[in-house]
Amino acid sequence: KAHFLCCSVWVTRRPSFGIAFDIDGVIIQGNTPIGGSPQALKRLYDDSGTLKIPYIFLTNGGGVPDSKRAFELSGLLGVNIIPLQVIQVHTPFKQLAKRFENDLTIAVGKGEPAAVMSEYGFKNVLSMDEYAACFDGIDPLEAYKKWTTKQVIHQYTNSNEMSPRNNVHSKRVQAAFIVSDSLDWSRDIQVLCDILRTGGLPGREIGPQPPLYFANDGLEYQATFPSERLGMGAFRIALESIYNRIHPIALEYTSFGKPNPFVFKNAETVLKQLVPLSDHNLQVANHSDASSHQFKTLYMIGDNPSVDIKGAQQAGHPWFSILTRTGVFKGKENHAEFPADLVVDTVEDAVDYVLRKES
Ligand code: G3P
Ligand code: MG
Repeated sequence: KAHFLCCSVWVTRRPSFGIAFDIDGVIIQGNTPIGGSPQALKRLYDDSGTLKIPYIFLTNGGGVPDSKRAFELSGLLGVNIIPLQVIQVHTPFKQLAKRFENDLTIAVGKGEPAAVMSEYGFKNVLSMDEYAACFDGIDPLEAYKKWTTKQVIHQYTNSNEMSPRNNVHSKRVQAAFIVSDSLDWSRDIQVLCDILRTGGLPGREIGPQPPLYFANDGLEYQATFPSERLGMGAFRIALESIYNRIHPIALEYTSFGKPNPFVFKNAETVLKQLVPLSDHNLQVANHSDASSHQFKTLYMIGDNPSVDIKGAQQAGHPWFSILTRTGVFKGKENHAEFPADLVVDTVEDAVDYVLRKES
């Protein structure tokens, strides 16, 4: 299905601009489209459903494989969205797949963290649920957590000799990835401390800390509840504080996600891949043709001043930031600390502005 969608999205001319849409608080709230997002996105296609304007989604959310997210968004928004157009918070982990391809790795977080990593090319990845289940008593509170009794096993079975579950007691974890928000802070902090301070073998001898990667370092985010919710950055602070109290060497980690400038550079690269080869050659550009394309303007449409707007500002030319009032930001004027280039009510207003300016 995803392949079909991929081949049915074409770009009909070579625009000098592209758009990156934040998802939560701009395009959807929970599972509901907001701000006229379906109508706004429809304007980026011609009557036959052909993509006219290169655009992507650039979100600090995640937890499902990019292909699945693209499929879900297509259904929700009524347009054909290909996996390449969906840059989730964990999508940069793809670039680490070669390094850890055959190593035992752990994926933490809500949704399907191991399936996310498998799609990126990690061959021996286990979710924290799968991994923790291999160690009796590793979580002394497990008996009180009814929700952990249902294990999510992504692609391996107990009888599969190739399953990384078979050698977790002798094979070191070579890296841990916080793919999405932790559902069980107490267990995940406990087991991560075990992995990190022993060098990848819980309950065993001490070794150097394996690399630790967070998809995102955002402290808070806007969900459906009126006030902001604690995000992955809050989980990182909790893990780091505890780890540094129980281990003599401070925790080392790398985090991704907006407003990291790297994310915006990567977004530009992906947008270039959506630019047409020529006016009449209706296909998604390949890498070499794409890299030579120069955008005059790239629009970042977001709702979070300290994430979306700060990120676009730090990324500099050719980014132009547009702040909507449908999510985190609800002010009348511009944001004081991270003022956007433009403030509008909704994503529909933002797209309207962009298309009028670029016509
Ligand atoms: O983790 C927070 C997430 O919901 C933010 O998503 O699309 O606003 O970057 P987004
Ligand atoms: Mg948002």
